[in-house]
Amino acid sequence: MRIAVVGTGYVGLVTGVCLSEIGHEVICIDIDEAKIEKLNNGFSPIYEPGLEQLLNDNIAEGRLSFTTDFEQGFQYAQAIYIAVGTPQRDDGSANLDHVETVARSIANHIREYVVVVTKSTVPVGTNHRIKQIIEENMVEKVPFNMVSNPEFLREGTAVHDTFHGDRIVIGADSDSAAEFVKEINKPFGIAVFCTDIQSAEMIKYASNAFLATKISFINEISNLCEKLDANVEDVSHGMGMDQRIGRQFLQAGIGYGGSCFPKDTKALIQIAGNVEHEFDLLKSVVRVNNKQQKLLVKKAKDRFGSLEGKTITILGLAFKPNTDDMRESASIVICDQLIRSGAIVKAYDPIAIEKARSILNPEVVFAASIEVAVTHADCMFILTEWSQFKQMDLTAIRTMMKEAIIFDGRNIFSLELMKEKGFEYHSVGRASLYPIPVAN
Ligand code: UDX
Repeated sequence: MRIAVVGTGYVGLVTGVCLSEIGHEVICIDIDEAKIEKLNNGFSPIYEPGLEQLLNDNIAEGRLSFTTDFEQGFQYAQAIYIAVGTPQRDDGSANLDHVETVARSIANHIREYVVVVTKSTVPVGTNHRIKQIIEENMVEKVPFNMVSNPEFLREGTAVHDTFHGDRIVIGADSDSAAEFVKEINKPFGIAVFCTDIQSAEMIKYASNAFLATKISFINEISNLCEKLDANVEDVSHGMGMDQRIGRQFLQAGIGYGGSCFPKDTKALIQIAGNVEHEFDLLKSVVRVNNKQQKLLVKKAKDRFGSLEGKTITILGLAFKPNTDDMRESASIVICDQLIRSGAIVKAYDPIAIEKARSILNPEVVFAASIEVAVTHADCMFILTEWSQFKQMDLTAIRTMMKEAIIFDGRNIFSLELMKEKGFEYHSVGRASLYPIPVAN
């Protein structure tokens, strides 16, 4: 089939590339000329394992192309996917300006029947609004259908998730449109769930809000574990063995970040507020997350009394491993708090440094390696669970630091290992570990 995808951000680009990989002819459209040129030359503007390879393969096969010309893209398509951003407004609601602009552009350019598929995360009711905008502004009166097809991919595993997702949700305004989108997705071989448009829109928000709730829940449990001398790693393991609870998203840490959870939880609170519903549970989830992001700095202040003049190494800046995405990363809040407290911050991340430069407090010093970052440090903060950090030579690292103290926001090391390597170790939801002084 011939498909146009509008928006070459995370969702749009991965969708476009993967749809071409399963055999469709895909044209991706974006207003950003530099980005389109880069993509046409086979370079991915985002770091995502496996994506650039598929991008090049499908360009070479002639199934994938990129353009800034909406007219060319739309006239050619049997389905138009809307995958533009819905950034957060100051009040937490989703900004739909880009989505509405695309709807107007579709109205201007379509000349024959088309199925409009929304991938962007949009508040319940938005697909009906898109349909209305297209109907009201159509230059040529042609029939079209509307489908909500929310995206559940995770950054860092986006390509894998697209081919191995748990479900594809299709909310359509007609059975034939639902069938059409089902057909497009058939080669993925993933279970499809069909419903109405509003329910599909809600499934996306409810899923993200639920996962965020799981994370805030386990983080609250971890705070209790610290006070009651329990070990949160064992607690989540024991909980996760119950299949009704499940093992996933019970990893305690310094809270969730990224482009989805922070934005979508706040948007759902806003959506509920619009229909006079106080979503108290979700408000607490957000509050707990904000508190959790500040946990390590509090621990360090409790430990040192003052952070004035302390040299603190930050390992990990991205909001999670295998991505260079800095959006809503706990590192932003943490680096800022440390610098305001008078600390000297030396940061290292395997791939997010370039993005971090323009986002973090300008006083952060960036290091080119773990070794450079830890040299003469009073302590180390681990903020992202990169495998490179799990594998570092702790014996060597210990000798490079001024003091062998680790604050681990992701619990990447076992207490046994830390004891063996002689570190003072403060993690999340587990007892702090102090090296036993060697008797003379
Ligand atoms: C999330 C959803 O998983 C995905 O379905 C949706 O489409 C977009 O939002 P993503 O933001 O890429 O994906 O990352 P994810 O792996 O879900 O992690 C989100 C955040 O939660 C990260 O900051 C991660 O560190 C944190 N997290 C996750 C935890 O703190 N504990 C966990 O157990 C799991």
